[in-house]
Amino acid sequence: MNSLTLQAPAKLNLSLRVLDKRADGYHEIDTLMVKLPGLTDQLEFRENAGFSFHCDDPEVPGDERNIVVKAVRSYAAAAGLACECAITLKKSIPHGAGLGGGSSDAAATLLGLDQWHAHQLGAARLHELAASLGSDVAFFLAPGAARCTGRGEIIEPVASIPVLRVLLLKPAFGVPTPDAYDRWSSSRELPGVVYSAQEVSGVSLVNDLERPVFAKYRFLAELKQWLLDRRETAAAILCGSGSTVCAVLHDDADGEALAKCARHELDPGLWHWSGTTGS
Ligand code: C5P
Repeated sequence: MNSLTLQAPAKLNLSLRVLDKRADGYHEIDTLMVKLPGLTDQLEFRENAGFSFHCDDPEVPGDERNIVVKAVRSYAAAAGLACECAITLKKSIPHGAGLGGGSSDAAATLLGLDQWHAHQLGAARLHELAASLGSDVAFFLAPGAARCTGRGEIIEPVASIPVLRVLLLKPAFGVPTPDAYDRWSSSRELPGVVYSAQEVSGVSLVNDLERPVFAKYRFLAELKQWLLDRRETAAAILCGSGSTVCAVLHDDADGEALAKCARHELDPGLWHWSGTTGS
């Protein structure tokens, strides 16, 4: 093989329940996740004399701190080989966004390397490596929606999830995931903000991380409420630990026009993406 290109999709937590803090510092969760097949990073593997890594986003570390490089190191150690390939990562998924971009990149790296090396490790070993790299990396090893439990690494595929039209909006700042979880048990709800489950197309949308995240990043609560007040919007929810907020759109709604309006009325620096969720 001379080269290989893989797409690494973003994810959306349709529901995220935080159940308890564990003795190991992680939180026990129960989450329903779907992929966003239209919002992807791209990973290109090319044959090379040694290993090299390049990322087109200057804000993403290009060295050993990058989860792609960590995935390469863990794959090489587990398979007992030197990775002789040049990896290029083209980012489209924003980071610090709650959309799983880094985790998806790591999973695509493991999948790409195993494909490159004639499936030397196989699905079960890749799952182990994925879980050691991050709580939601394993979700990205297989296509489709899943219910994920434990700290997120126990994956149960879900057969049929309705396709939803969504608009994602994200301010320039990100939210560090540990910060959201650390503040979960002590945080309080803000008055006037909807936290309860919203039923859309038979799916119950809810995110227990909204309480700690909104308490610290009040603009995100304002953004959610602004979306809920719009006629285009059937529901609105924080994505994972944020800072992206997702609006589920009615069939006839114009997502691009809504994004323009949000930039005009709330924040000219908002990043946006509109499209559909994977089934
Ligand atoms: O596993 P990952 O590295 O993605 O998690 C980042 C941080 O988020 C953890 O160090 C932990 O603070 C928090 N976390 C958690 N419970 C989870 C997942 C993540 O407390 N289930």
